[in-house]
Amino acid sequence: MKISILTLFPNLFNEFLSTSIIKRAIENNKVEIEIIDFREYSKDPHKKVDDTPYGGGAGMVLQCQPIFDCVEDIKTPESKVILLTPSGIPYKQSVAYDLSKEKHLIIICGHYEGFDDRIESLADYIISIGDYVLTGGEIPAMVLADSITRLIPGVITEDSHIEDSFNENNLLDYPTYTKPADYKGMKVPDVLISGDHKKIDEWRKNESIKRTQERRPDLLNK
Ligand code: ADE
Repeated sequence: MKISILTLFPNLFNEFLSTSIIKRAIENNKVEIEIIDFREYSKDPHKKVDDTPYGGGAGMVLQCQPIFDCVEDIKTPESKVILLTPSGIPYKQSVAYDLSKEKHLIIICGHYEGFDDRIESLADYIISIGDYVLTGGEIPAMVLADSITRLIPGVITEDSHIEDSFNENNLLDYPTYTKPADYKGMKVPDVLISGDHKKIDEWRKNESIKRTQERRPDLLNK
């Protein structure tokens, strides 16, 4: 799997690419993550990539030319193009699963007041990571690259994501604990120390349902 990220702020990705599981996935050739500064594609003498909005209004709008030329340059028949914007379709684990099966993802990070709307014509997916507005698409791009990379076979152990929140059963994850069994009077539930795996499975299932009812009742209605 290759992920190409189109951004005006390539430096933001340095730590992301050189830390922990993402770093290891890159070193083990499970994923290639390419960061492209699309300003390089600008045909403007001053490498300008944005301009004021038609009809007036605040802020600057990303122009078509640099982004169209960049996508045309790197796109292959196997590429899927993702546009990140708060006006996109909400991102969720099932979309991460679908995307983790693709060969090449091109992720476009917006900035300033947004994109010229004609840029949407390039996109196979228009995605928002949540109902809030960030200063740009770089953090959302890391959210996608991270959540997709960890689903690529061999990046983390299969068990780790089979038991994640939001899997097919649409339940939140159950509570987990580690040593010590008593921390400042807060005790690990006896059942987890009992060694009775049937009881442990039952307890975990019930806790998942309870937690989902309390925190995300909307998931249970799906
Ligand atoms: N750019 C700014 N805010 C965003 C969001 N919530 N999702 C995706 N891209 C964004």
